[in-house]
Amino acid sequence: MLKYSNMSEPTSHKPANQYDDPSHNYLHYWDGRDYENEAERMAITRLLDGKHFKRAADIGGGYGRLCVFLEQYADRVTLAEPSQQQLDIGAEFLKDHPEIDRVQMQADELKFNDGELDLITMIRVMHHLPKPEPEFAELSRVLAPGGYLILEVANSTHARNRIKATLKGEKIPATPINVASAASTADGGIAFVNHHPATVERQLAAAGLTVERKLSVSNLRSPGLKKVLPRQLMLGLENVMQTTLASANFGPSMFLLVRKAA
Ligand SMILES: C[S@@+](CC[C@H](N)C(=O)[O-])C[C@H]1O[C@@H](n2cnc3c(N)ncnc32)[C@H](O)[C@@H]1O
Repeated sequence: MLKYSNMSEPTSHKPANQYDDPSHNYLHYWDGRDYENEAERMAITRLLDGKHFKRAADIGGGYGRLCVFLEQYADRVTLAEPSQQQLDIGAEFLKDHPEIDRVQMQADELKFNDGELDLITMIRVMHHLPKPEPEFAELSRVLAPGGYLILEVANSTHARNRIKATLKGEKIPATPINVASAASTADGGIAFVNHHPATVERQLAAAGLTVERKLSVSNLRSPGLKKVLPRQLMLGLENVMQTTLASANFGPSMFLLVRKAA
């Protein structure tokens, strides 16, 4: 059990147990998504640019998809994940990596000391956080001064959405857009939102976190394209698009390199 101190008072948060659903195995979600998986690793490699860290955690890391990859960047990596089912899948997935801690926690109440981590990744979690301010405050608390966060943001302003909005004469709101299925919303089911990158940047700044760089990621995410284009060609194009289209917030997924002031 990890020891932690100086934690903020426990919040009255809702338990993030959406993935404790025996009918859904997140490991299989990744079947047929090699392009997206490789595109995300490419982005992380680029943003970390050869840096090395002492203590990293992947928050909301699921079953640990990215933890082994992160080990090349840090002496110690923790999979921090609220869902017991994801952690159970992770126990098997990471069985050859006992050095990776697997700890149950959620992003608004992290079981780390103040300033304990010098690298945090939080990938594909923001779409479950319609109001991420408490989570950003926690990420900032556990980051060391000068520490880095790689944050993936499900992007409400991506090119396809902008075209649709323009055709309808609408403007994309600065507030999160609900993209959950109608059935799930009616059910009070899993929150599923896309965020406006400029709003996220402001929310991060309020937590003392500054965006230093961003990339446009999974730019060619489309079942149709995947059928006709070889994966290596898609990844070659992705490689160019991640940087050239970043300032236009082109892709469905923005990867932000965020830093806490030194
Ligand atoms: C789409 S999965 C992504 C998993 C992993 N980051 C990846 O990219 O493979 C979303 C994960 O976020 C976790 N999650 C949901 N709400 C969370 C919260 N409030 N704090 C931390 N993790 C959360 C879920 O349990 C789930 O494992």
